[in-house]
Amino acid sequence: MRRKLIAGNWKMHGALTSNAQLLQSVLTGAGNLSAVEIAVCVPFPYLAQARSLLEGTNIAWGAQNLSEQPQGAFTGEVGAPMLNDFGCRYVIVGHSERRCFYGETDALIAEKFAAALANRISPILCVGETLEQRDSGQTIEVVSTQVNAVLERIGIAGFSGAVIAYEPVWAIGTGRTATSAQAQEVHASIRALLSKADSGIAGQLRILYGGSVKPSNASELFSMEDIDGGLIGGASLVAADFLAICQAAFSFR
Ligand code: 13P
Repeated sequence: MRRKLIAGNWKMHGALTSNAQLLQSVLTGAGNLSAVEIAVCVPFPYLAQARSLLEGTNIAWGAQNLSEQPQGAFTGEVGAPMLNDFGCRYVIVGHSERRCFYGETDALIAEKFAAALANRISPILCVGETLEQRDSGQTIEVVSTQVNAVLERIGIAGFSGAVIAYEPVWAIGTGRTATSAQAQEVHASIRALLSKADSGIAGQLRILYGGSVKPSNASELFSMEDIDGGLIGGASLVAADFLAICQAAFSFR
């Protein structure tokens, strides 16, 4: 049985005062949802705040990116050992916004994934197709290529304890969600791909869905066999919405 995971991706949002209010409300509301794992991935400057407010609670925290390098003359970068210093359990790797806006390649993303593992931080590897790719029937091929790039670099053992998030690019921040059947098809294909390497690890791996998850569509998505939770953008910034999504996952625990 895979424990459902709901992870918030705050993206480049937040401020000290509003973060404190948001985290306090989430903490209060999440008190009896411990059958679900809840995490928030915050901007780097707020990791210290997340740690001070969340340490010792049932909510984990993490970052949204990391350098593939551990340290050195890489101006503006943040390495995995630094994330470790702030108690990060998770780090998002290869989000489509990083692939699209910052030119991150499959090869670089595989290095980042390796850097997280080397520092005992669970990578949340994001994969997903564009609308054009979906419309031309390439979805499974695109997602498989993205997963294979990491599999070939790291090996299947690297997926034990890691998380994959399927986030169709066309569903991110658009209000357009993949149907539960569309998402399930891709999730099942990812699990089948990894099963060929190790069915035990693939069976344990949590595969999250991300892309316009809201309280109104969360239950339908989480009811699917291979959807093990969500990576939540916009709705993770509103405590009531984020908690309602956690509650939806709780009902499928
Ligand atoms: P939205 O939930 O805002 O569509 O964002 C999804 C996402 O990109 C999470 O990483």
